Amino acid sequence: MAKTTLTAVRGMNDILPPETVAWQNLESAFRAVLALYGCAEIRLPIVEQSALFARAIGDVTDIVQKEMYTFADRNGDSLTLRPEGTAGVVRALIEHGGLRGQTPRLYYLGPMFRHERPQRGRYRQFHQLGVEFFGIASASADAEIIALSARLLHAAAVPARLQLNSLGTPQSRAGYREILLQYLRPQAEQLCSDCQERLERNPLRVLDCKVESCQEISRDAPQLLAHLDPESAAHFALLQELLRSMGIAYEINPRLVRGLDYYHRTVFEWVAEGLGAQGTVLAGGRYDALVAQLGGPDTPAIGFALGMERLLALRAASMGEELAALPHVFLGALDAESLAAIFQRAEELRARGLRVISAGPASIKSLLKQAQRSGAHYQVLLGADDLAADSVLLKEQEGLAQWQGPWTALDQGLMQLGVDFS
Ligand code: HAM
Repeated sequence: MAKTTLTAVRGMNDILPPETVAWQNLESAFRAVLALYGCAEIRLPIVEQSALFARAIGDVTDIVQKEMYTFADRNGDSLTLRPEGTAGVVRALIEHGGLRGQTPRLYYLGPMFRHERPQRGRYRQFHQLGVEFFGIASASADAEIIALSARLLHAAAVPARLQLNSLGTPQSRAGYREILLQYLRPQAEQLCSDCQERLERNPLRVLDCKVESCQEISRDAPQLLAHLDPESAAHFALLQELLRSMGIAYEINPRLVRGLDYYHRTVFEWVAEGLGAQGTVLAGGRYDALVAQLGGPDTPAIGFALGMERLLALRAASMGEELAALPHVFLGALDAESLAAIFQRAEELRARGLRVISAGPASIKSLLKQAQRSGAHYQVLLGADDLAADSVLLKEQEGLAQWQGPWTALDQGLMQLGVDFS
């Protein structure tokens, strides 16, 4: 019987070197920016109880209804691969009492899982960098976290436009919902089948549906911004004033609704050119009721998450290939007798901070090929004769520089050729 070759699960990607170098570079640039805003990292399980997401994200959202990877474990407990990070962070803070009298600023980096139709920029396993600020009700937190998001995108060298909206409070939204329904109901038949189905449950989602006929109808719909409660309107005005004072440009998009139910007041997205409908590289908003809703103390909060794959795709388009840190030196053994000497010297040099590839025993031809592939700046090939004579040749791979001297003084040779041991 022919064996079928096993492949990765559809929509879940292997990330291979040298692509991993671009990931690492971006991650460390992000960590440096996050430190500027006093954010600390939190690492959470990838699997949570299914009920957490239904309660946090909302029973009637696409994520909970259609996209979760949910399974029963061996005890029969219903578990879910996390589709996003906010719910888990809130759960963990409540569980560990991290909100009492404190205003934590946390970030997380890792895989999320949604059973969506895969296409460029949309995967079933994707990676988010998320940031959550807790305990600050003022629009100052909104402004600060948006400034942080701008700085992250700047560090990634991905140009994007900031879109803003306010969803008001659940009370002001409930009043608007009725007004919107009165507008949409007579035109229900022109809506796409998804929107027809969610019309009564969640009419606001019609506003950000991407289907042309729905967009046409929502263009003339009454706007939520015109029906904000006075406090939400003042909150939104202060946010805009602070953004202007920091020189952060924004557009107000009254149809920005977001696909998760926990948002209050401010919602925002950064949209980049070049990924079509998947152009939202970073998105978030305020969720002042979620902590209490999940059983914690009344705590206002705001956060966002950025899609690593989307940013990296756009960055690759704009930056070209990123350089891996290449080895300083390749040490090759020409025979079994010199292998131990190679290994010993390689460890010594690594202990002093050099990147070293050791190989062998193998023929000259094979070692030269391996040395070249390694990308090392310098190479040394060592045989039993060289060891006996205590004399080796250290050569630059892509140039003419070389040093001949005792094997025991190889570090001196590397320094003479300009390798920095600091
Ligand atoms: P979200 O809008 O569902 O928000 O996702 C945030 C970002 O993750 C998106 O803008 C996108 O860049 C990326 N993303 C989402 N789904 C996919 C996918 N299938 N493939 C590739 N990238 C994807 C949240 O998840 C909220 N938890 C954000 C938040 C944090 N709000 C408050 N705090």
